[in-house]
Amino acid sequence: MLQDRIKQYTEEIEQITLLSAADVENYRLKFLVSKGVVKGLFEEFKTVSSEEKRVLGKVLNEFKQLAENKYQEAQELFGKSNTNTVKLEEGDLTLPGEGFQLGSRHPLSLVRKEIVEIFKKLGFVVAEGPEIEDDWHNFSALNFPPEHPARDMQDTFFIKKQDGNDIALRTHTSSVQVRLMEAGKPPFRAIMPGRVYRNEAISARAHCFFHQVEGLYVDEDVSFADLKQTLFHFVQELYGEGTKVRFRPSYFPFTEPSAEMDISCTICKGQGCQLCKGSGWVEILGCGMVDPNVLENCGIDSKKYSGFAFGMGIERITNLKYEIKDLRLFSENDVRFLSQFETEII
Ligand code: DAH
Repeated sequence: MLQDRIKQYTEEIEQITLLSAADVENYRLKFLVSKGVVKGLFEEFKTVSSEEKRVLGKVLNEFKQLAENKYQEAQELFGKSNTNTVKLEEGDLTLPGEGFQLGSRHPLSLVRKEIVEIFKKLGFVVAEGPEIEDDWHNFSALNFPPEHPARDMQDTFFIKKQDGNDIALRTHTSSVQVRLMEAGKPPFRAIMPGRVYRNEAISARAHCFFHQVEGLYVDEDVSFADLKQTLFHFVQELYGEGTKVRFRPSYFPFTEPSAEMDISCTICKGQGCQLCKGSGWVEILGCGMVDPNVLENCGIDSKKYSGFAFGMGIERITNLKYEIKDLRLFSENDVRFLSQFETEII
């Protein structure tokens, strides 16, 4: 009977799962073509009595609807219309992707890297130490007398006052020298970059934190000539051949003799300008022969070993390289400033 067959095909369609374009096509061939099931049932419908027609007309139409809906749904998933045309809401897949902004290295990182690379080629290794230091490593071992003004509250951020061994934020990277020498045996040849802190009012020319690179070379028979040649080479590499250097006598508790090193002004090449205040020279670092007291404090025989040390501010070196006039720019994280420096793919 027609009614039974409609029921049977309805169940069949409800149970079929179409999983591929091939399934969909087979389904179409079975049910929807002119010699298919649906058309066949309609042909048969013509032959039944008018009484039956009244009942079955509606049932047959519902079956046809079901058969067509099933096909349509499956075709949306696997059918031709989906593979060849792109629907508007999905966007144009052939358009190039949206770019994202690449960051750039901070100028201080660029310069620190450059400094470290130059010394690495001379056989210096990189060493680091803690930013929270005790009095011994930051001051006492470095031969600071107890009443030295640098220990004063004005310069140092103290964290904890402990009789005789205060805890503070390190005021210079020279503390890493001490840690290095205490931990090992000569020879030492190390470069020590890091952040340091001083209790200063923030302005264009001073900041409460900044960055230094410390250098240390300790071995038998190290002389001031070695110090001069090493630093001369460093300056030629960093600022270019022909950059002049000069050493002026100075004082640091941890070196004897001590000196400050100037280079010929990178802006006016020694002619005299605003930056060098007309002198043609700019100071870039402090240095000297490691004081025998410091060697002894670190357990090194000062009769057998000698060494040189130097320390420079990375901000100062960077200012001279890029002509940056305000120190505050380094810590404001303004992308208009930061994006002016070379982008590196890391
Ligand atoms: N620690 C000194 C400072 O912060 C810089 C310095 C000078 C380091 C002379 C040295 C040195 O190692 O020999 O100003």
